[in-house]
Amino acid sequence: MCGIVGYVGRRPCRDILFDGLRKLEYRGYDSAGISVVQDGRFSLLHSVGNLDNLEGILDQIENGGTTGIAHTRWATHGRPSSENAHPHTDCSGRFAIVLNGIVENYVPLRAELQAEGHEFTSQTDAEVVAHLIERAYQGSLHEAVVEAYRQMEGHFTYCVIAVDEPDVIVGIRKETPLVVGLGDGENYLASAIPAFLSQTRSVIFPEDAEVVVITSEGAELFDLDGLPVRRDTQTVDWDDEAAEKAGYETFMLKEIHEQPTSLAETLAGRIAHDGSVVLEDLGLTPELIREIEQVVIVACGTSYHAGLLGKYALERWARLPVEVEVASEFRYREPVIGDDCLCIAISQSGETADTLAAMRLARQAGAGVLAVTNIVGSQATREADGVLFTRAGLEIGVAATKTFLTQELAMLLLALYLAEARGHLSPTEVRAFTDQLRTIPGLLRDYLEAGAAATVNEVASVYAPSRFFLCLGRNLGLPVALEGALKLKEISYIPTDAYAAGEMKHGPIALLEEGSPVLVVATDSFIYDKLMSNVQEVKARGARVIAVASQGNKGIEEIADDVLYVPKVHEMLSPLLSVVPLQLFAYYVAKNRGEKVDQPRNLAKTVTVE
Ligand code: M6R
Repeated sequence: MCGIVGYVGRRPCRDILFDGLRKLEYRGYDSAGISVVQDGRFSLLHSVGNLDNLEGILDQIENGGTTGIAHTRWATHGRPSSENAHPHTDCSGRFAIVLNGIVENYVPLRAELQAEGHEFTSQTDAEVVAHLIERAYQGSLHEAVVEAYRQMEGHFTYCVIAVDEPDVIVGIRKETPLVVGLGDGENYLASAIPAFLSQTRSVIFPEDAEVVVITSEGAELFDLDGLPVRRDTQTVDWDDEAAEKAGYETFMLKEIHEQPTSLAETLAGRIAHDGSVVLEDLGLTPELIREIEQVVIVACGTSYHAGLLGKYALERWARLPVEVEVASEFRYREPVIGDDCLCIAISQSGETADTLAAMRLARQAGAGVLAVTNIVGSQATREADGVLFTRAGLEIGVAATKTFLTQELAMLLLALYLAEARGHLSPTEVRAFTDQLRTIPGLLRDYLEAGAAATVNEVASVYAPSRFFLCLGRNLGLPVALEGALKLKEISYIPTDAYAAGEMKHGPIALLEEGSPVLVVATDSFIYDKLMSNVQEVKARGARVIAVASQGNKGIEEIADDVLYVPKVHEMLSPLLSVVPLQLFAYYVAKNRGEKVDQPRNLAKTVTVE
């Protein structure tokens, strides 16, 4: 989730590019850089940390050149450092590139280029693009960009400038954003509209695999065969704030809709061609994996729910005994664990005080510690023996959405990886799951694009005045119910309880009265019939049932008052889809009650105190 901006025109562009980066700060940053073509060479600056650091050294390059590119980085490959900051250049120093996304086949490409004598100066996947263009260039930057694109796998957008073509920027996208801003005698390329909104409101949205060539005179689009492509110019009427939210009314809604992309990022490069799972940096050798006798997962809030889902997968696939505990409790226990225990700490921020304390306790007891986190360079990554990054991109809404889904996916990948390494699943069995995992981002995208938000809003608006909600689930549906309940509590402030459906008759069923709304996670599973008996029990007490069910399950309409359908997938993967209508339900209940969902009362995004 990096930010890109490029300018070509008649004005000196150093400060214009920097202003553009400032507007992309909300996308996250851990380093930044600028490159401007000037006097037949590039003036190049990199800095680590926030944009103030780049601003502090900005006058090291003259504000003279009129073509340039700039980038704020959100690290996915390679730690945040000056050499890993973009723009990257090739060996000859004639091409500079910025990239957003992931080049999945960068390892073989890099090896191939190195064998041909190309020298790399960073650990990033992005640098291969500069060298691919250097290798392909035969007098046309446009053609070199196409040639590089044909060799790259993954999802990415990149923009390139060349000292030999000083009045041109060429960009191309594949499943990540790229937008053209059309000015008067100047033009822009960016990953998001805010980068140039103060300069122009005329935009073009290129599609995947369309090459965009901008000069000060205009923008031209071509397909990969060089044939011109026509796209209409559109005018955006967003203000700055709306632009940061890409037109969504809140960051939370934007982040819910970003989940297909986030899931694709989490998967990128982690499923090999043979279907096996590839996880680097886990800090676990095959011997260590075989020696694990016990797993303890520690986390808080939403991350705890991802841990619960991880437990089901680790038990079922890797046949490991797993305990999941909220970190604030675990840290004050005297856990019976030793060096045959793997402690998995899940924390999107990697800075949650209780989770860090729980990690330290596990380590003192001799356990190996693996951090599952979204933030490169966070405290959890510094204290753990290994790291699994979730790659959700920066999450601004306090209520976690896309970070939850990516944590869940990371835990599924980890469970499959350990299951194969420990001999509990065969390569063929793992492949059957990874083949299905690959389809999840697309299924979720289709679901959201088909108008899921509006459908859920219709139902949520009916229940918004409720004074109480109950959420029920069984097996993998239980953590989903717990997460749905947490979302409702956090942003709508309506008292909500979540329970294992089979446990209802032992007490909570007494809460129900005529019309009490009960949300049930009822996607297809081996325990579906048992769950339906529980649903009959709550219906018999007058409850109104809102069910999340698998597409095609018509029978549930006879029992439930409202049904929110999600695409049907294997039950082990179903939480990746079934939680989304619950996120949307909580969102629209809160909106219908007039709550400010991005900043719920009493809550902070990162809890660094005990
Ligand atoms: O950064 P972490 O994942 O460690 O944060 C843990 C919780 O504070 C967090 O998940 C919280 O529950 C969310 N706001 C829930 O939406």
